[in-house]
Amino acid sequence: MPGRNRSGQDPDTGSEPVRLVVSDLTNIEAFNFKPGHQGFLDFCRTVFAKPEPQFLRTDDDELVVFRHADLRALAVMPAMGNVPSGVLSAQMAAAARRFGFGESASSSTTGQAIADGFANQFFFNNDPIRAPLRRMTLGQIGPKAAPSMIDLARSIAVQTLAATPRDQRIDFTRDIAERFVVAFWTRIVGLSEHEALAVTALVRAMSAVFVRFDTPAAFQATDDAFAAYMSILDRAARRSLAHQPHPILAALDSGLAQLDLVDDPAYAGIVPKSAGKMLAGLLIDGFHTVATTATSVARVLAHRPEVLAQLERMPSLWPAAIAEALRLQPVALIFKRYTSDDVFHNGFLIPKHTRVAMMWAAGNHDPAAFPAPETYDLTRNSAAVTSFGGGSQICPGRHMAQMLTQALLQTIACEGLELAPEQAADEWARSTVFLQLKSFPVVLRQRST
Ligand code: HEM
Repeated sequence: MPGRNRSGQDPDTGSEPVRLVVSDLTNIEAFNFKPGHQGFLDFCRTVFAKPEPQFLRTDDDELVVFRHADLRALAVMPAMGNVPSGVLSAQMAAAARRFGFGESASSSTTGQAIADGFANQFFFNNDPIRAPLRRMTLGQIGPKAAPSMIDLARSIAVQTLAATPRDQRIDFTRDIAERFVVAFWTRIVGLSEHEALAVTALVRAMSAVFVRFDTPAAFQATDDAFAAYMSILDRAARRSLAHQPHPILAALDSGLAQLDLVDDPAYAGIVPKSAGKMLAGLLIDGFHTVATTATSVARVLAHRPEVLAQLERMPSLWPAAIAEALRLQPVALIFKRYTSDDVFHNGFLIPKHTRVAMMWAAGNHDPAAFPAPETYDLTRNSAAVTSFGGGSQICPGRHMAQMLTQALLQTIACEGLELAPEQAADEWARSTVFLQLKSFPVVLRQRST
């Protein structure tokens, strides 16, 4: 098999592992991988037809982990860390040079707003900084806190739907999902109406970061959107904190004030400098990824009226129905990790400082874990689903994402409404990070009784 070299000893088994040489592995494109949903499905159908290969690589020589068992096993290893913010900054500087923004990494600032925005999301932190930020976040939007906000979410869903036109073609993402999530987080951060509108447009512009930039202008525009977004959220949060902050904002503010940690871009990352910046970092997903999730689940269910009817009879099935919809049509395609040390796994040695692409979406379509993966089946074990990652880095926003998705879609049903998908062919974004529709055209209409 390409990509093998013998080296060292596995400390656990004492046997000699095979050292992975990522650049020697087969490119995922050889297995029909292409950005977008169809490319993802083609890849899964091809690669899971045989038990080999175990690993692949991306164009950028990142190690691709895609089999369910490997994703789950590697995710729990402490040395499978997050990409340090310094590594991300260097990547942005390299992109800036490639696009002709300055001769050297230090002579251009384009790309740094993107890097700074993400650096405030503890996706780019490792311990000792990551653990306390994660605890603070889970305390505010984790398994206890998220369900307690469902009534607020439902009331916002009712308002959103009341202002949505009936019986005409709309885009579910723009006209319902985005407006709903922005209205929800607006209450937490304290955005003005004008700021909320600006943030909606900026988040849309920022999502270009998940697609490969084609032109310097696209790179610059995305960087500008990140800078404006961070500044609006930080300003709004400061204003709220000075008056009557939402408890989530107040808790993040006091939590950060108690942290006694220093920045370490090379490994642990940076400590957010304000609650507004921390929340802004988290809400990149809170806005974009939650709206994308709600769209994905809405699309799966809109095509399955029998499941919607079952949910009406048994509303307690909503969490399982959402988990299965997200398994079938996942949103998070690839999330990056970075090895902080040599990692030994299943007879292989993954060297320190390897950039790893965890293809979480593929875990959901591995027939070894989910027989007949393209079939929607409400009786599956949702604990095995990999839509939100795994291990100690498993998404801390998942409870909130599920609650918001349920609140929105259940409210549509409770209001006696339904989404009728327009039959236009679906167009997917050419992203190698997220699986997201460019738009989901539907008609929102009153259900006939
Ligand atoms: C309120 C919304 C959300 C917030 C605040 C949020 C936040 C985060 C953060 C901070 C991490 C890094 C965790 C760590 O390093 O310890 C993370 C990881 C992740 N999130 Fe989320 N997220 C949200 C929604 C979503 C949604 C809707 C999805 C997909 C459906 C998603 C998928 C993931 C995945 C796949 C990971 C990687 C986990 C891993 O590497 O094991 N997130 N999220």
